[in-house]
Amino acid sequence: MSLLLKHIGTIVGIEHMGRLRRSGAEMDLLDRLDNAYLATDEGRITAFGPMSEMPDEAHFDTVVDAEGGTLFPSFCDSHTHLVYAGSREQEFLDKIHGLSYEEIARRGGGILNSADRLHACSEEELYQQALERVDEVIRMGTGLLEIKSGYGLSTADELKMLRVIRRLRETTPVEIRATFLGAHAVARDYIGRQSDYVHLVCEEMLPAVAREGLADFVDVFCDQGFFTIEETRRIMRRGAELGLRAKIHANELAISGGVQLGVEEHALSVDHLERMGEAEIEALQASETMPTMLPGAAFFLGMSYPPARAMIEAGLAVALASDYNPGSSPSGNMRMVMALAATQMRMTPTEALHAATLNGAAAMGLSHDFGSITVGKVANFFLTRPLSSPEFFTYAYSTPLIRRVFLRGCEYR
Ligand code: NIG
Ligand code: FE
Repeated sequence: MSLLLKHIGTIVGIEHMGRLRRSGAEMDLLDRLDNAYLATDEGRITAFGPMSEMPDEAHFDTVVDAEGGTLFPSFCDSHTHLVYAGSREQEFLDKIHGLSYEEIARRGGGILNSADRLHACSEEELYQQALERVDEVIRMGTGLLEIKSGYGLSTADELKMLRVIRRLRETTPVEIRATFLGAHAVARDYIGRQSDYVHLVCEEMLPAVAREGLADFVDVFCDQGFFTIEETRRIMRRGAELGLRAKIHANELAISGGVQLGVEEHALSVDHLERMGEAEIEALQASETMPTMLPGAAFFLGMSYPPARAMIEAGLAVALASDYNPGSSPSGNMRMVMALAATQMRMTPTEALHAATLNGAAAMGLSHDFGSITVGKVANFFLTRPLSSPEFFTYAYSTPLIRRVFLRGCEYR
């Protein structure tokens, strides 16, 4: 099927240079085209340019009048946990009333609470709940999405989660990648026997996941009170043997060495980064590992934000993701994430856009196909109503500006 969009007010997020990520000062350069058309065929972008050069409409199956709106590349949300059962607003209330994370955990809260709920939930019900969230994020502009397991914590329940992710992949038009996060927390039955749990992750869960081809990546919650550097290294290496690249949770609760480990082991990304020092930034400078910030989690938990300016000024590429999950970020709204990046981390809306699109795709190893308006890339984008400037989109962050969403060149309704 071919599609022609005409009278586009402005196209943003254009990438002509074949860059697979934007780093440092490049992040703040907005490549835009005003009064434009864009053409797609078989789900890929085939051409775009000024209206004066638009091809004949008669050659297209579908023609859409953009009515002067702005066309953005779809968000590439490289870090979510959006397959989960139920919700955890009771813990939200407990936190408001002053309970600490440890007290909440003692009352049965936290990741183990989600694991209990997931265990009790059928695969079909889990799929239906997650499907609603996927539909929600597509309407908010996401076109490429990573989803983690990690609320199963037993072989059977981790496989159940990953099968739900596979079904979402098969039944929705958004592009999905799956990450195995068995080492999200030590399962209830293994408390006090953490090394036995790590053994289970490496010798039973990972081989089972690989056998069914259910995951693209492996993740570990490498932080104070969760998994150690040595345990994380072991899980990453076992994942690598089975063909899974690593994306790790690092430096959320402490400067733990997780960033350096990610760099040494060639992780695709290191995510969270609320606690960063100079050594962490230096380690990233010499690597391809994408630092990924999740300001929705810092916002929801009232934590400090990652030092985005220092990272960009050191010449790094950075990515932004939602961390959509029931405990620390119950939202997959990437516009809100961009607004938090701007207001709390002093990223410009243009830097935030590149972090949420091209660099997010790079954090999944997919920026050759996603994350910008480039001829040959997958035709994932959305149209807004006419905007006074591209910056207005991040500034008026809760106004429903998105009018139409296109995935693989087809309109999503
Ligand atoms: O990315 N930090 C670890 N895991 C999730 C939160 C998990 C939860 O509380 O359910 C996160 O923030
Ligand atoms: Fe997370």
